[in-house]
Amino acid sequence: MTQDELKKAAAHAALDYITEGTIVGVGTGSTVNHFIDALAGMRERIRGAVSSSEASSARLRAHGIDVFDLNSIDTLPVYVDGADEIDAGFAMIKGGGGALTREKIVAAVAERFVCICDASKRVDVLGRFPLPVEVIPMASSHVARALRRLGGEPRMREGFVTDNGNLILDVHGLSIDTPIEMEARINQIVGVVTNGLFAERGADILLLATAGGVERYVR
Ligand code: A5P
Repeated sequence: MTQDELKKAAAHAALDYITEGTIVGVGTGSTVNHFIDALAGMRERIRGAVSSSEASSARLRAHGIDVFDLNSIDTLPVYVDGADEIDAGFAMIKGGGGALTREKIVAAVAERFVCICDASKRVDVLGRFPLPVEVIPMASSHVARALRRLGGEPRMREGFVTDNGNLILDVHGLSIDTPIEMEARINQIVGVVTNGLFAERGADILLLATAGGVERYVR
């Protein structure tokens, strides 16, 4: 199977976690695109979606799925999203697509986070994938210096502006043994909007697509 076929298999497995009549939290990325396409098949049976990016909102609307403002809803039973890396404790690096801030906000509201991945995303230690950090533009040099002091090598994502009008520093060379602590430390740097470590609020369910089928893990 190709990596894209694996992503599609994980995405389809996530339909089992959607309750009829509810609003669904939707992430961002190529795996989630498969999920949105699959969700379209049950659009008459859900109320709609809350989205983590302009790109996902456009795809949802193109399928005729209503997109709700997060502030207009009280509860969100489930949030479905991919990851760039996920460890044994279900901590993740996310933000390869640059949507990390809205992803973290929607994930914080959701009762359950269902992570959909192909098996290449499963790692023992987070950090081989460069950690995205969203920064306020005027603070980018200050934040970069602080990230170097933490042992990383930040590189500006050239020509990229987030949906929130900010910049992304991709931090190379980190070996993240204690993701909850690292997430908190980076968030304390003035000028950081969000970092791509999802450790304090990690995944609850992992649907990991392998050549042998989709493996299901519950935290
Ligand atoms: C988007 O900002 C990311 O957090 C994605 O969820 C992550 O990069 C996974 O993307 P793919 O599904 O495209 O691999």
